[in-house]
Formats: sequence, C-alpha cells, structure tokens
Amino acid sequence: MYSWSMSSALNFSDVQSYMLEQLPERPDELSAMEQQARETGFPIIGPVAGNMCYQIARMIGARKVFEMGSGYGYSTAWFARAVHENGGGTVHHVVWDAELSNKARVHLRRLGYAEIVQYHVAEAVKTLGSTPGPFDLIFNDIDKAAYPEALSVIEQRLRPGGMLIVDNMFLGGGIFESSDRSASTAGVRELTSRINASQDWIGSIVPIRDGLLLAYRAP
Ligand SMILES: C[S@@+](CC[C@H](N)C(=O)[O-])C[C@H]1O[C@@H](n2cnc3c(N)ncnc32)[C@H](O)[C@@H]1O
Repeated sequence: MYSWSMSSALNFSDVQSYMLEQLPERPDELSAMEQQARETGFPIIGPVAGNMCYQIARMIGARKVFEMGSGYGYSTAWFARAVHENGGGTVHHVVWDAELSNKARVHLRRLGYAEIVQYHVAEAVKTLGSTPGPFDLIFNDIDKAAYPEALSVIEQRLRPGGMLIVDNMFLGGGIFESSDRSASTAGVRELTSRINASQDWIGSIVPIRDGLLLAYRAP
C-alpha cells in the first residue's frame, strides 16, 4: 500500500523535472523564449510557474494584471494568454531596462497579445503607485530587497478577492540559511512574515522552481 512520510525524501530536481514533463505543449514563441533564457542565463519564471500563473489568472477571471519586473515578456505572455481567454483586458509590463521592454514588444506581438499589453520602462513600485487600479492580479519579480516596500503599494492596488503572486521565495536556498543577512534575504523574510501575520491575506508558498508565493487578498 502507498504511504508517504517526510523520510521518503523526494528529490527536488526529480519533482521539478516531472512537473515540467506533465505540461501541455506551448507555442513555439514561448519555447524560443525559454531557449533564450537557457542560453543567456536570464532568470525567467519558467514554464511550470508560468502555467500556474496562467491557471490562477484564468481561475479568478483576471482582466487587469500588473506585473512588476517583467524582463523580455516571458511571464507577461502567460498572463496575457489568461486575460485574452478571460475576454480581454490589460497586462502592465514594467521593467526599467528599455532593451528588455523592446524585446518583449516583439515577442508579445508575435504571440498575438499586442492589444493587451501596456509597456512601462520605469521603476516598478513607483509605477504601480501611480497607475490607477484596482488590479485583479499582481505579480512581483523585482529586486528582492524591495519586496517589503512593494507589498505596501500592492496592498493599496490589489482588489479584495485578488491574487498576489511573488517569485523567488527560496532565493536559491539562501532563505534556509539562518546566518544569511543579505538585503535580498531580509526582503523575502519580511514579505513572508507580513503575509503570514495578516488576516487580510491567505498565503501559501508553492515549491515550484525557486518558490512561488500565492497570496489571496481575503475579501
Ligand atoms: C527576474 S527578471 C524578470 C523575469 C520575468 N518575470 C519573467 O519571468 O519573464 C526581473 C527583471 O526586472 C528588473 N527589475 C528589478 N527590479 C526592478 C524594479 N524595481 N523596477 C523595474 N524593473 C526591475 C530586472 O532588471 C530584471 O530585468
């Protein structure tokens, strides 16, 4: 008979590979963006986390999405797909690097999402603060030291019943090192404890890749 215990010690990379194998096929453009990330070492969220973002955005019927720290548009593509299938709306793509923003425009146009995505070449926390909400879903993938500052603005912009998704909750393992006092680790720790301590949030960390926080803004 099947039984599970902590001592079964599943191998983390086996779990990640298995989840990847189970994904449905993706459009060629998305696969090309994944290939680009492998070649350049650019830290995209990857297909398993992307699919989870897409699933959540579809589940809550998200039509207004704000993405913080968008890179060349890989995570944006998953949100844009959901918004398109939810009947249309807007995904804000925000990155402070113009070259990445321009690359994203090309990829997202090829994917057919030109009408959905709005581009900002700017600092993400300030941009969220100056963009009228409320948003159905906010995704945060900026510099980790800025996660606490971002949360305060997110709380003003996310609608009750909306979802916050945050990447890199494990910080490549740094989060498990109690002696790690870096600004990034402090940022992730503060975000985690604020979400867990607040009755306004119902949060879970999902062990996909580098840890994805899924936090529901309780209505
Ligand atoms: C981890 S990458 C984004 C990957 C993207 N979410 C994806 O999965 O395709 C983060 C990007 O956001 C930029 N960034 C970091 N902090 C930022 C901030 N506060 N405002 C704007 N861009 C920021 C970084 O320079 C980098 O290009």
